[in-house]
Amino acid sequence: MAIPNMSTEALVTRIRELLVCPECHGPLTVENDAIKCAASDFTGSIRDGVVILLEETFSSFFDDKFAIMQRGHEDQGEWDLFYAEQTRLLEGYLKPGALVVDVGCGPSLSYRKNGAFVVGLEPSFPSIQNNRDVDLGIMGSAAKMPFGNRTVDMIICFYSVHHMVGDSIRETRDLVTSAFREFVRVIKPGGSLFVYEVIPMAAAAVVQSLAWNPVRRLMRKKLDMHFWTAGFFDELRSDLMPDSVLEKVSFQSSPNTVFRPVFSLPQLKIYRFMYPLAPKLFKFLF
Ligand SMILES: C[S@@+](CC[C@H](N)C(=O)[O-])C[C@H]1O[C@@H](n2cnc3c(N)ncnc32)[C@H](O)[C@@H]1O
Ligand SMILES: [Zn+2]
Repeated sequence: MAIPNMSTEALVTRIRELLVCPECHGPLTVENDAIKCAASDFTGSIRDGVVILLEETFSSFFDDKFAIMQRGHEDQGEWDLFYAEQTRLLEGYLKPGALVVDVGCGPSLSYRKNGAFVVGLEPSFPSIQNNRDVDLGIMGSAAKMPFGNRTVDMIICFYSVHHMVGDSIRETRDLVTSAFREFVRVIKPGGSLFVYEVIPMAAAAVVQSLAWNPVRRLMRKKLDMHFWTAGFFDELRSDLMPDSVLEKVSFQSSPNTVFRPVFSLPQLKIYRFMYPLAPKLFKFLF
C-alpha cells in the first residue's frame, strides 16, 4: 500500500473527487480495482494503493534507481546544492487545503507539505509505490494530466523536466511543450507552477545541441536527460501562458560542495565548481 492509512473507500472517493480521464478529461468510474472512462475506451487500475493511468508494463529509467534517488535527499552535498534553499522557498507557498500536483515526485518528497494535499504523478511504478509522503500516488505522465481544467492550485516539478525526453531534441521539445500545455490547462487562475531545473552554462548548451541526437542514437534510453536553457522557459511562457508572470531564482552554494552529478553513477563524486550546470527555479504565477 503506497499511501499509509488510506482505505480503499477513501482512495476511490479521492479518485472520483479529483481525477478525470487523462485522454478526454471525462469522468472516471471505479469498480473494484478497475478504473474506466465513462466517455472513451480509456482504462486504468488500482494496484498496491497506486492509481495506474499508464500501461502497467510501462518501464522507466528510474524503476531501478528509486533507492539512489531516495538517498539523494540524505546526501549532504546534494541536499546543499539542490534542495536546502529550494525547499525552504517552496514551503512558504504551501498552504492548508491547497491541491498541489508534484510532477515526477520520485520515491519521496524533499519538502514539508504544510497542510497542502499533494498528489504525486510519476511514470516509474516502483518510485510512486515507495513514496510514503504524497497524499495520493498516480502512475502517469506529465503530458497527460488526469485533472480537470483549472482545478489545481499548484504544480511542482522538482528536477523532472530534464528527464522528459524523446528520441531526438525535436521530440523532446514537443514532449516538454505538451506537458506545459497540460500544466496551463489544469492550473487555476491565481495558481502557480514551480519548475526547479539545472541550467547548462553557454558552452555546455552548445555541446549538448551538437551531441545530443547522435549520443541518444548510440545510448538509447540510457541517455535520459536533456537540459534546457533559461531562454526555453521564456519561450514557453510567451507561447503558452503570456498572461503569467515568470520569476527566475538562482541558488548559492559553496564551489567546494562535493556531490554525485549522475544518478546512475552513484560512485562518481565531483566538486560544484567542476559542474557546468546551475540549479534555478522558474516560478510562473497565473
Ligand atoms: C531526478 S528525478 C527527481 C525526483 C524528485 N522530484 C526529487 O527531486 O527527488 C526525476 C523524476 O522525473 C520523473 N519523470 C520522467 N519523465 C516524466 C514524465 N513524462 N512525467 C512525469 N514525471 C516524469 C522520473 O520518473 C523521475 O522520478
Ligand atoms: Zn476518456
